[in-house]
Amino acid sequence: MAVEPVVYGASERPPRGDYSRAREDYTCPQNWSTYTEADHDTYRRLYERQSALLPGLASQAFIDALPSLGVRDRIPRFDEINERLRPATGWEIVAVPGLIPERPFFDLLANRRFPVTDWIRTPEEFDYIVEPDVFHDLFGHVPLLFNPVFADYVQRYGQGGLKAHDLGAGELLSRLYWYTIEFGLIREPHGLRAYGAGILSSSGELRHSVTSPRTRRIALDLVRCMRTRYKIDDYQATYFVIDSFEQLFEMTAPDFTPIYETVRALGELPADASIASDSPITLG
Ligand SMILES: [Fe+2]
Repeated sequence: MAVEPVVYGASERPPRGDYSRAREDYTCPQNWSTYTEADHDTYRRLYERQSALLPGLASQAFIDALPSLGVRDRIPRFDEINERLRPATGWEIVAVPGLIPERPFFDLLANRRFPVTDWIRTPEEFDYIVEPDVFHDLFGHVPLLFNPVFADYVQRYGQGGLKAHDLGAGELLSRLYWYTIEFGLIREPHGLRAYGAGILSSSGELRHSVTSPRTRRIALDLVRCMRTRYKIDDYQATYFVIDSFEQLFEMTAPDFTPIYETVRALGELPADASIASDSPITLG
């Protein structure tokens, strides 16, 4: 039986990717041989532009791990990355046709398998694409899976996700993913840096999130984060800041069941909210 395609948020756009290739768990073969020279060239140009932007803006752990992706002048073979990733942290990447539903997504993460979309954007989408493609997923997400503490956090997120799904709290928990794994900032000795994949794979938002005086940055608080709606088609209005990946891992150790109750009782906040209990993070 074929699996259902998935789209990002409420959208009239047709889903990207060929879901007829997907297995029941939504994984599929990478089909590396079907990439065209233009596909490889798009990846090469995206990698070149983005890697040049990293110094002073990306977290040191990310910069240190990026070479682990291997080749940069063409789309890597996932199998080759896995030969390095498995011994490093016990994770592996698996190809998927695009976005996948909550339950199978959490299930893959809980088993240390990270889903990576295998198609690449068109040249016309070079600067901006709403859906994650192979460049976003590989360049943005995979380097930090080589970091043992961050890799453990992502697995813990998946395990928590399975529980959240059963509690009907998947949407609340997805905000934690969004504001950490996708759009997280971290305070490092030399200043604020980005570790979220959505920022690291974006040419504009990387500089904006780390340096713009006109955006909101607050210390990560679980309840505050899970109350906060987010934007899928614009720069984030609020960034949540951590001090270390260890902090992230420890913060997510408790059972979230009572935390979801608190979040529901307090109600959701718009993406650009400011509330009295926020701890703003200033630049410099
Ligand atoms: Fe992502």
